[in-house]
Amino acid sequence: MTPGLRPLIAGNWKMNTLVREAVDLAKAVVAGSGSVKAELLVCPPFPYVAGLAGMLAGSTVAVGAQDCHARDKGAHTGDVAATMLRDCGATHVILGHSERRADHGETDAMVKAKASAALAAGLVPIVCVGETLAQREAGQALEVVHGQIAGSLPEGFVAAGGVVAYEPVWAIGTGKTPTEEDIAAVHAAMRAQVGAATRLLYGGSMKPGNAAAILALPNVDGGLIGGAALVAADFLAIAKAAG
Ligand code: 13P
Repeated sequence: MTPGLRPLIAGNWKMNTLVREAVDLAKAVVAGSGSVKAELLVCPPFPYVAGLAGMLAGSTVAVGAQDCHARDKGAHTGDVAATMLRDCGATHVILGHSERRADHGETDAMVKAKASAALAAGLVPIVCVGETLAQREAGQALEVVHGQIAGSLPEGFVAAGGVVAYEPVWAIGTGKTPTEEDIAAVHAAMRAQVGAATRLLYGGSMKPGNAAAILALPNVDGGLIGGAALVAADFLAIAKAAG
């Protein structure tokens, strides 16, 4: 944790849930959120953003999206603008997730343009960075993360409360996590790069069993949770581990 920064526990639901499951999961998160001190965010698939934002209005659980386009409108079939998400009640948007970098060829420059659009729309961008296994084994983790941050954060990001999530690609959905020393080393380097005001999340196989130890590390200001965010009790247990 970083003194003075409220932890953020964010659920990235990825391409999971049908409507009924999304509604039930969101309801269960709200129902169990009473004693949670961390800020809570759920990021469902696009079709459910408006419905869940309406449903959770007035609760302590915010709703975000998992991507946005860099433009406000136009001939971009299948894409969704940050302004639309904001208009639907979203407050945050995850950008540059490694799955989007891999599946859709998103570059740092594209992520930066999307983050710029998010800021202009009044959304808090959560920009994801992280090295592959080959890069870690080659001793390049710090360099890769530094480069992604340098290339992906637009002007105004820090002032607007933008969030950075460190998600080592090889830790996502694998049950593997870096050592506490390795997480702390990356987060210390990110802190030196982005300054004291920016929340730095860890993501990658975070579960109720390892959350307390990870969240207690210096400069880890919350978590971006994948698989465990699909089980309300697990997501809430992680949130409670944040204090
Ligand atoms: P898992 O928690 O399933 O490893 O996913 C992490 C992630 O990619 C969150 O964005």
